[in-house]
Amino acid sequence: MKHPTVYAKPDKATLEGMLGKSLLCTQDFSDAEIDALLAVATTFEQLDGRGVRCDVLPAQLAYAVFFDNSTRTKSAWAGAAARLGMHPVIVDGSSTQIAHGETAWETGAMLGMNAHALGVRHDTILGQGQTMLRELKGGIDAFLRDTGDPRAVPVVNLQCDVDHPTQALADLQWLRQRFDGSLRGKKIAISWAYSPSYAKPLSVPQGEAMLLSRWGAEVVLAHPPGYDLLPETIAWARDNAERSGGRFAITHDMDEAFAGADVVYPKSWGPMALMQERVAASADKKALADIEKRMLAQNAAHTDWICDERRMALTREGKALYLHCLPADIGAEVSPGVMERARLDVACEAHKKVYVIMAALAVAKVPKLWRALKDLHKRG
Ligand code: CP
Repeated sequence: MKHPTVYAKPDKATLEGMLGKSLLCTQDFSDAEIDALLAVATTFEQLDGRGVRCDVLPAQLAYAVFFDNSTRTKSAWAGAAARLGMHPVIVDGSSTQIAHGETAWETGAMLGMNAHALGVRHDTILGQGQTMLRELKGGIDAFLRDTGDPRAVPVVNLQCDVDHPTQALADLQWLRQRFDGSLRGKKIAISWAYSPSYAKPLSVPQGEAMLLSRWGAEVVLAHPPGYDLLPETIAWARDNAERSGGRFAITHDMDEAFAGADVVYPKSWGPMALMQERVAASADKKALADIEKRMLAQNAAHTDWICDERRMALTREGKALYLHCLPADIGAEVSPGVMERARLDVACEAHKKVYVIMAALAVAKVPKLWRALKDLHKRG
């Protein structure tokens, strides 16, 4: 099953304006820039599907640091870098000198002198991830500027406390390909769902709310009381919806969000008050473990927040497209039957990320990218 059908030629001037641009938060990108980035991702997906080598960045180091677990995003980073001809290296954040107190600014300078792109995941503590990404970028840019080094070393956010942009962009790409290029008028339910496994970051629902609200859709966010998201991300989602002629609403009723939905995105995240408690306790392992237990106990008051057959039947003709960033808690966030029916869809959704990361690196680093893509098309 292949869906790389939505193709619009990326706008040349927009692409040139994105040279050197880091992907830290989708809110930093205009609609035209998002469209250009996804057009490039579609091109890479088509070329890759035809077996065409896309090595537009040969012999460059794509370094990534993960302060949290990952299966999909790590492999998408490595897969994107390898397809572009780069050399991917992924390290555990706790093994760097940041764990011994080296500042993000200093670390950025050190990584920037050796690498040609930097990916970072830092998603568990509110107020830390996005801040660290911007400090790393500041350190890289200062080193390159002060040494007269012309290299572009973009930073790619591989999930922080605010946004998970490669996930949200992959999801938008998947939705556009499934809905013939347009989300206008579609109802998209982003819902909290019960999880007993661990308290998950806020950045997926925040990133989805911010990005999916830009294209004229009706986006409904559902969660139990106490599971609010960061207010600035909600304010951006509201503004985006208003600007696009769409709608953004919040409810505490999962059924209401699912009623008539074209798309459902039910996944868990941690309760806000305890996410905030984590900030003060972030250096204390025992306190963090205690907070985690309390988060799971709070989650357990909402075991009925599950995406099951009854709820799917409430959606448009009972056939809403089920999205999940994965891994999903089967039997808690989603029933086994719903997940089994969506198994291939969620795998295809996840596969978009490799092309989004390729696009994010290429638009930031390849001058006259449209010409390079034209040359690649001639290869096969
Ligand atoms: N969806 C996602 O980011 O998956 P990983 O945590 O496995 O990278």
